[in-house]
Amino acid sequence: MLFNDPAGQNLFDRSRVVGQPHRRIDGPLKVTGTAPYAYERHDVVQGQLYGYPVGSTISHGRIASMNAEAARAAPGVRAVVTTLEIEPLGIWNYNVARLFGGDVVEHYHQAIAVVVAETFEEARAAAALIEVEYEPGDPAEYDLDAAFQRLEGTGEPGTVVGDVEAALDSAAVTLDQMYHTPSESHAMMEPFASIVDWSNGEDMTVWTSNQMIEWNRQALATNFDIDPDRIRVESPYVGGGFGGKLWLRCDAVLAAIGSRAVGAPVKLALPRPFIMNNSTHRSATVQRIRLAANEDGKLTGIWHEAASHSLPGGRGENATAQTPYFYGTETMRVQHHVVEMALPEASDMRAPGEASGLMALEVAMDEMAEKLGMDPVEFRKVNDSQVNPSNPEQPFSDRNFVECLDRGAEAFGWSERSATPGENRDGAWMVGHGVAGAYRGALVMPSGARALLENGRLVTETDMTDIGTGSYTILAQVAAETLGLEVDDVEMRLANSAYPVSSGSGGQFGAASSTAGVYAACMALRERIAERMGVEDPEFRDGQVVAGGTERALSDFEGEIDAVDAIEWGEFQSEYQMATFGAHFVEVGVHSGTGEIRVRRMLAVCDSGRILNPRTARSQVIGGMTMGIGGALSEDMALDTERGMFANHDLAGYEVAVHADIPEQEVIFLDTLDGIASPLKAKGVGELGLCGVAAAIANAVYNATGVRVRDYPVTTDKLL
Ligand code: MOS
Repeated sequence: MLFNDPAGQNLFDRSRVVGQPHRRIDGPLKVTGTAPYAYERHDVVQGQLYGYPVGSTISHGRIASMNAEAARAAPGVRAVVTTLEIEPLGIWNYNVARLFGGDVVEHYHQAIAVVVAETFEEARAAAALIEVEYEPGDPAEYDLDAAFQRLEGTGEPGTVVGDVEAALDSAAVTLDQMYHTPSESHAMMEPFASIVDWSNGEDMTVWTSNQMIEWNRQALATNFDIDPDRIRVESPYVGGGFGGKLWLRCDAVLAAIGSRAVGAPVKLALPRPFIMNNSTHRSATVQRIRLAANEDGKLTGIWHEAASHSLPGGRGENATAQTPYFYGTETMRVQHHVVEMALPEASDMRAPGEASGLMALEVAMDEMAEKLGMDPVEFRKVNDSQVNPSNPEQPFSDRNFVECLDRGAEAFGWSERSATPGENRDGAWMVGHGVAGAYRGALVMPSGARALLENGRLVTETDMTDIGTGSYTILAQVAAETLGLEVDDVEMRLANSAYPVSSGSGGQFGAASSTAGVYAACMALRERIAERMGVEDPEFRDGQVVAGGTERALSDFEGEIDAVDAIEWGEFQSEYQMATFGAHFVEVGVHSGTGEIRVRRMLAVCDSGRILNPRTARSQVIGGMTMGIGGALSEDMALDTERGMFANHDLAGYEVAVHADIPEQEVIFLDTLDGIASPLKAKGVGELGLCGVAAAIANAVYNATGVRVRDYPVTTDKLL
């Protein structure tokens, strides 16, 4: 086949539709408020009742008793189900928190009851009447620094290359610093929400807000011990996920239990104050980074050791994720410790691992460049590696990190920067410039799709989700390109478990993987049509199929050709290290009187293979840059160590960046072709856009003020 030949040309190398800045095909539905989100499926579900959750008010221990009599007698209440009435539900894959059932409390605001009533207000009022007696567990430890000190140097490192201690001992220049990143919340706009119809206790239909349809279906099947074929899951519109909606959460579980109890569909959205501790978050990290370099700036050793927390079995936040692959070095030691804590489950959030890891590593690189007396752009360029530094046998499929730095420095005017901190003034503002590198893996997942002709249009079905990323649009572009149509000739049907299983939206693998599946299905349809016509390799253009002297309209084959399913993914995963690269350049102003920090200018340069749609890709990257401002300057889940929970329960207390915080943002795509990464020679950008942003800001703050902050968020008090 043409499409997996890394050196070969394929259809898309002379593309008409793919690579064009097509506007979102779902945009009008969203901006007119007519896209039906999970909680709003009045169109398809009749007779919905309202569910409301009750959460534990201790962080760990057990429930001695619950009294739901008053709640059951309250107006409008149809059912109350407490956790004590349900066997502990199963856990699925990395979803390590038990979502409901049994008397054990693992974390604060774990769901312990669901009330179903005729109105939302009645359900909420009755939920407040449930009385709970707890047996709290022994006092728990929430000190990640203490845990790090205890664990440092113990256990098996994930990566060891050469003798890093010897390299540090003999190096001309060394660095040894500690860095801290706080726990972060996904803080997506749309809360976790589901309507579940499990009225008959057998077949379950779930309208939900989730990134991964098949994972969701399998997790529900495991939780409730039913055949996955009895479950249908739909999630056609998602108001943000950021990794929080990769996994089944208790909105769907409680709605299902409520629905079975009352014999009617039940809808349940997690209230915002409940989300912060009931759902997952990005774990805080403690990181120690030691660097060794020659006088010429070549790194000879990188030692990165980090700790994060999670519930038993959880993965925490592996802040060392990028370190084995990013900078070339003779020796390396990389280790991540996961500390069990009686806190809500820590799990994936946008660029899990790299986002936090680069917040530290890229500040360390800035510090090291200064020690060496080198420009921080030059220092990074000197330490580029075209092979996997932790496995030099393995080349990168495509790596243009140096070009990102060069293009960025040029476009940003980096040469104008003052290398000495605190020297650049604009009135009362101290002005600083910072740079950081970006690395994020480029996973590819198997992804399936179906192509068929219906009502004169090409229809493509896949369970892929669009979490605001533009999946509808890029998939329609690929289908249109493959069959010689325009985007408007294609109907995309997404995010329904009745369709072929896709990669889903996660790990920035969605775009590269799901387009491969749609491409494969459309190629299979082309082959069927060629067979039907009895010709070889007909041309598909302008809605026509052209072969030799004959020409037929594509829509003619409707009724003659059945739907075709296909599944596809890249085949070269183990021979090559696949990743995306970037460089972030930032200008900040720090007010000399108040210490207020304003980001004034941002530039990202991204190396992500083919850009399928520059408009939706840019939107992903500026979204990441925006999230990076929050990560650098304000986002911080405040840990209450007395109660074992995060105290900021809403978007007033947990501060994400808002419009007024966002300056001019510019994005440059190298728009190369990575023929190994995916059939479309594309890689993801959605997580890359966040990676390194916060460090570039912290480095710019240092350049402005001379104050080096190693504990995020970088707040005014830390500059005093
Ligand atoms: Mo991403 S954190 O894998 O949705």
